[in-house]
This record gives sequence, C-alpha cells and structure tokens, in this order.
Amino acid sequence: MYKIVGLLLKIRHGITRRFYPAYYTLVASIKLKAMGAQVGTGFWMDGKIRLSIASGQVRIGDNLRLRSRYRGNLVGMAFPVTFQLCNGGGNISIGNNCGFSAVVISSMNQVKIGNNVILGGNVRIFDHDYHSLDPEIRRDRNRDRQNVKSSPVLIEDDVFVGTSAIILKGVHIGARSIIGAASVVSIRYIPPDSLVVGNPARIIEKGKSSK
Ligand SMILES: CC(C)(COP(=O)(O)OP(=O)(O)OC[C@H]1O[C@@H](n2cnc3c(N)ncnc32)[C@H](O)[C@@H]1OP(=O)(O)O)[C@@H](O)C(=O)NCCC(=O)NCCS
Repeated sequence: MYKIVGLLLKIRHGITRRFYPAYYTLVASIKLKAMGAQVGTGFWMDGKIRLSIASGQVRIGDNLRLRSRYRGNLVGMAFPVTFQLCNGGGNISIGNNCGFSAVVISSMNQVKIGNNVILGGNVRIFDHDYHSLDPEIRRDRNRDRQNVKSSPVLIEDDVFVGTSAIILKGVHIGARSIIGAASVVSIRYIPPDSLVVGNPARIIEKGKSSK
C-alpha cells in the first residue's frame, strides 16, 4: 500500500512541477506587463507574485527565474515575490540571468540589481525606511510619508544573498560578494569578492576568491 501511495505522490509531483510553473509564469507575465513593467525574454515563475508598482519603473532583464510556491524551493518560503514602488516614485531594475525566491523588493528611490544575481528565500531589499525617524512627524500620516529617508541600493553582478537577509537603504554590494543567511546589511560600500555576515552585518573577508 505504501508503495502505491509513494507512486501517486511521485506522479502528483511530476504533474505539479510542470503545470504550476506554466500557469504562474503566464499569470505573472500578464500582471507585470499590465502594470507597465518591462520584462525580458525567458521569464519564468513558480508561485505567486504581488505587485504594487503603479508609480515608477520596473525593468526586468532576460531569463529571470522567480520562485514563491512553498514546494517550489524547500528553503521554507514565507510569502509571494513582492515588488513595490512607493511614495510616487521608485525604480527597480534587474539584470539578466537572475534567480530570486520569495523576495520583497521595495523602492521609493532606486534598486538596481546586476546580472547572475541569486537572492535566496525570503530576502528583503528596501531602499527606504517606510517611516520617518522623527516621532513627531510619524504621528501625521502625510508628513510621515513625505519624510522617509531613502538612498539607492546597488547589487553588482554575480552576488549571492543568503536566505532571509535584509538589505537596507544606501547599500552597494560589489560584484561576486556573498551575503550570509539572515544578515542585516546597512554597510554603505561592500567591495567586490567580499564575504559579509551577521546583524549588524560586517565584512569578514575581502577580495575572497572562490576558485
Ligand atoms: C534602524 C534604521 C531606521 C536606522 O536608519 P539610519 O538612522 O539612517 O541609520 P544608518 O543607516 O545610518 O545606520 C547607523 C548604524 O546603525 C547600523 N544599523 C542600521 N540599521 C540597522 C539594523 N536594522 N540592524 C542592525 N544595525 C543597523 C548601521 O550598520 C550603522 O552602524 P555603524 O554606524 O556602525 O556603521 C534603518 O537602518 C532600518 O532598519 N530601516 C528599516 C526600517 C524598517 O524595517 N521599516 C519597515 C517597517 S514598516
């Protein structure tokens, strides 16, 4: 009996592995284009996407692969891929051949991601603080919105960001650098080939060669 159940589970897995990405890719492509995003060729998605991008620009290069379906990546994904542009501005630009799992990218300034970048499950990238840092201003919703600190985030080619890391405003990550799981990164400039870990994140190796 267990053999039959095992076989049925394998068949189900085989079907869903093909069917879900085809469905989610179509839905996500339509949503992105309907919201004015530019999407390159070879876009692929397995799972849900949430978009709030009416205010600015989203540009996606070729061969972007997005995952957010729980069974699509067993790292333990918690929410849909989310792209948000806020406060009437924002700009998200993603290069070619990138792969992201259940990421949240929120911009009111600029988030620029290069080529061949991997963002692990549940990574969050914010180029702003969402709220003013002044308690008096925060009491007034409109003033709060108008006084949010923001600064561009730049992630260069071949960067790998581990699961659940948070990249905060003003961070520039040099090419080929690796950001450890669950790091909270607010370092303004990370040179190429760095290894960065912790909360608050610190550079623990510079000029690291992976070869
Ligand atoms: C905490 C925060 C508001 C501070 O912003 P800021 O005053 O502009 O601070 P800075 O970016 O200049 O950082 C100041 C120092 O704090 C550290 N730091 C900043 N944010 C940090 C964080 N979240 N965790 C750990 N350290 C942090 C920085 O590394 C820096 O350390 P250093 O002086 O040793 O280099 C901001 O970094 C942050 O966490 N924003 C996200 C807010 C958020 O989650 N909003 C969504 C909720 S709706």
